[in-house]
Order: sequence, then structure tokens, then C-alpha cells
Amino acid sequence: MKLLDKLPIDSKERRLALSLDQSKIPAHIAIIMDGNGRWAKQRGLPRFAGHRAGVQRVRDIVEACSDLGIQALTLYAFSAENWKRPRAEVDMLWRLLRFYLRNDLADLMRNDVRLQSIGRVEALPPRAYEELRSTERATSRNKGMRLNLAINYSARNEMVDAINTILDEARIDGNLSRLVVDEKMVSRRLQTAGSPEPDLLIRTSGEMRISNFLLWQIAYAELYVTDTLWPDFDTMQLLYAVQDFQKRERRFGGLSNSLPDPEPQIPALTEEVGDEELELSLR
Ligand code: IPE
Ligand code: IPE
Ligand code: MG
Repeated sequence: MKLLDKLPIDSKERRLALSLDQSKIPAHIAIIMDGNGRWAKQRGLPRFAGHRAGVQRVRDIVEACSDLGIQALTLYAFSAENWKRPRAEVDMLWRLLRFYLRNDLADLMRNDVRLQSIGRVEALPPRAYEELRSTERATSRNKGMRLNLAINYSARNEMVDAINTILDEARIDGNLSRLVVDEKMVSRRLQTAGSPEPDLLIRTSGEMRISNFLLWQIAYAELYVTDTLWPDFDTMQLLYAVQDFQKRERRFGGLSNSLPDPEPQIPALTEEVGDEELELSLR
């Protein structure tokens, strides 16, 4: 794990990283980066200062995830609902996005990270949009971690867009009248197609909600909500989240591995089993 080489000998972070089970590192982590405003408020600073501090965390967490061997990291940077905020704050967020993309390209290249946006990014102001596309192009051949930046993102929009794509394709192929949609068809047309589904969904700042993020993809993600505000979410906090994830027992609707096999004498539920017999066997 590359992360170990970077953590100071005898540091708490290093001890925690060493205690992780290498075979159970999540393939995909998704993060709702919340709490910039509250972080600033606590310090008597304008909200902008919180967003600026949040950018530094994006930098650190992208590198730490890449060094941990995470295959995909999806960061919720701006929701389709965030346009409801005051114009000045929204404008500031686009400026910060451009600043991040321009300043961090070299780091993304050094870490072999491929950046891709998800969300209806065509609606961004032209300069932010251009910077985003240019970073996507510049990193498109990188083979390391995939960084999905969710910008002007809404999970419901994403699903609607996927369904409309399926309909358009069927119209072009002339088989609309025979079209039957299945889960694979939808998954493949989501903007996260190509990344494994998130194993771990982290939300900072304590809010127990999903806020229209990756509704389809998180069907079986493990949820980790921390009271830590995003600008305070450092490598140590990330390692705590991964450590917590490794303690979870993922069952995907099945049974726990540690439970004995179901009682063998339960009769098969065939039609031959009468109601009375069935009732007895289930007692
Ligand atoms: C998250 O921090 C950043 C964005 C949504 C862009 P907030 O700005 O939502 O911070 P709080 O929730 O007001 O503290
Ligand atoms: C979710 O945070 C969106 C992002 C982190 C980009 P919000 O602050 O917008 O969520 P709500 O409004 O508290 O649900
Ligand atoms: Mg918020």
C-alpha cells in the first residue's frame, strides 16, 4: 500500500493503516462532502472560507484514496438542487472548481488519476465547463483511480437520462414496440458505468440523508455518517471510515456466513405441502 510509504513512522495514521485488512479495501468509495458552511460559521468566517478549506480536503482525500488502492472515488461537489443558493455563493463555487482543476492537474497526473464528471455539466458556466472538459481529456489515459466528480448532479436526473437514452436507442434501432428494459440496461447507461458500485458511502457533518446522490448505485453500499465537518475530514478520518467498513458484515440479502445452515428438516415449499403442515413446520 503506497499510503504507508507516505505516513510518518510511529504516527497514528500509520498504525491505523497497518491494521487494515488489505483484502477488504473498498473498491469504490462515494462521499457526500457536507459541512463547509458550518465549519466557516463556527469560526466566524464567511461560507466561502469553508468551501476553500474544503478544496484542500478534496486534494488530500483524492491522494489518500489513490494511495490506499481504491479503484473509484465519487465526490459530491455540487447538487442539481444547490442552484437554489445565493448567486454569489454559486459563482464562488465555480471559481473554486476552476482553481482546483487548474492547480491539481499535475497531482492528478502524478497519481495516475483519471477524472470524470458526472451530472448535467453542460449547464455550468462556460469557463468552468471548459476547464472540466480539458482536465477530463488530459487525464483520460491515466490508468489508476477513477475520480468521479459529481457536479450539477441529481440521481433522479441521471436515471431519467439513462431511460431516455434507452428509448432513443430503441427508436433508432426501430424496436421500440418490443422494448423491455432490465437492470443491466439501466446500469450501463448511468454516468458511473464502468466503475464498480460503491461499497462505502460516507457523509460528513452528521446529516442522515442521501440528498439525491447515486440512488441506484448505493443499493447495497455500507453507510458511514460522521459528525466531522468536511474541511476537517483528513486521512485519519478516512482510515476510520475504512476500518469501520471492514467490521461490517455484508449480506446482500443472504444469510450471515457465521450462521449454521438452515434446518434441513424444513419441507420444501411445494404445492403438495398443505397449509396446516406448512404452519407447523414454520413454528
Ligand atoms: C457542502 O457544504 C458543499 C456544497 C454543498 C457545495 P455546505 O455548503 O452544504 O455546508 P453546510 O451544510 O451549509 O454546513
Ligand atoms: C449535499 O449537500 C450536496 C453536496 C454535498 C454537494 P447539501 O448541503 O446540498 O444537502 P442538504 O441540502 O443538506 O440535503
Ligand atoms: Mg450542506
